[in-house]
Amino acid sequence: ADSLRALAAGINLRIGTAVTPFELDNPAYAQITGDQFDSVTPGNEMKWETVERVQGVYDWSAADRLVTFAQQHGQLVRGHTLVWHNQLPGWLTSGVADGSIDNDELRALLRKHVIDEVTHFKGKIWQWDVANEFFANSWDAHPLPSGINGDNFWVSHLGEGILADVFRWAHEADPKALLVYNDYNIGGEDGTNAKADAVYAWAKSLLAQGVPIDVIGNQGHLDTQYGFSGPRLTAALSRYASLGVKVAITEADVRTFVDNATEQVPTSNLALFAQPYEYVQMLRSCLEVKECISFTVWGFGDANSWVPGWFTGEGYACIYDVNLNPKPAFTDLQHELMLA
Ligand code: G3I
Repeated sequence: ADSLRALAAGINLRIGTAVTPFELDNPAYAQITGDQFDSVTPGNEMKWETVERVQGVYDWSAADRLVTFAQQHGQLVRGHTLVWHNQLPGWLTSGVADGSIDNDELRALLRKHVIDEVTHFKGKIWQWDVANEFFANSWDAHPLPSGINGDNFWVSHLGEGILADVFRWAHEADPKALLVYNDYNIGGEDGTNAKADAVYAWAKSLLAQGVPIDVIGNQGHLDTQYGFSGPRLTAALSRYASLGVKVAITEADVRTFVDNATEQVPTSNLALFAQPYEYVQMLRSCLEVKECISFTVWGFGDANSWVPGWFTGEGYACIYDVNLNPKPAFTDLQHELMLA
């Protein structure tokens, strides 16, 4: 009765997790996925490199398996992600690099990819992460004045206008799916609002042109070594919502430095407090903004997290430990939902 999904159901919020088929092969992991969450996001299975590894040959099997799991467990699916610079098929990036795919053809291939994928899953996807990570950070080399990253693969070849097109194409293919612009550090997580300001201004302008953007998704990959402010996140989310869109936390995790990559024990006592606290702050921001429709963690078991593979010496990012025991972050999220 006090599962995360049961607690959130009463307040009309979906609690989600990223999941991959190999995780569902572990019965204990599958059990928690079904018991605790009422939304799932495929971690890699809907990305272009997975669904069209060979040009012209679609393989939806891994993604279909996750969608079936979700349907069997009363979960909604967040589709992830249609247009990103990462995890593109090798045939596409090498074709662009060697000049055999020119920009006109690239645009046609992208349109076909978006329409075919959205059509395949039509009616089965609650929210689609249509465009992912297009905005520059302060540390990127060549941001355009708008804040869109001019070095982005898609923008550098097809121009900024491609963003409006991909939302229109996705809407055409499944008019009922909620279409998401998804990015990280757009809730002031780095201590400045520069990226949040840029996304806000961009969304405002596209919405004024009638571009079908329904949700702004803030990923929420936090690190306890940086200052994170819950009130600043709340302010950012409510400012997006003031444009008439919904908002969501789409990929929450909170990493910290650990002594040992296998056991993932934090090196600092402070992190033991900061880690659950920052999870709660993110959830609280979502609860405080009534347009926030889902709170999704980017996987829930430390043993499977993407973090140790990407950030040397860091880990402990999830709400369950390496043995799938709930951590303080889990119980603190539970309490926060009980109070909501
Ligand atoms: O598929 C290959 C496999 O053939 C090979 O044997 C294996 C060896 O390392 O690698 C496999 O690819 C891995 C892929 O995940 C699929 O498992 C890549 O190495 C690995 O880098 C890739 O990582 C994913 C990452 O995105 C890459 O961009 C993570 O699992 C995934 O959780 C992560 O998710 C992203 C979101 O999509 C967008 N926001 C940030 C988030 C975290 O990076």
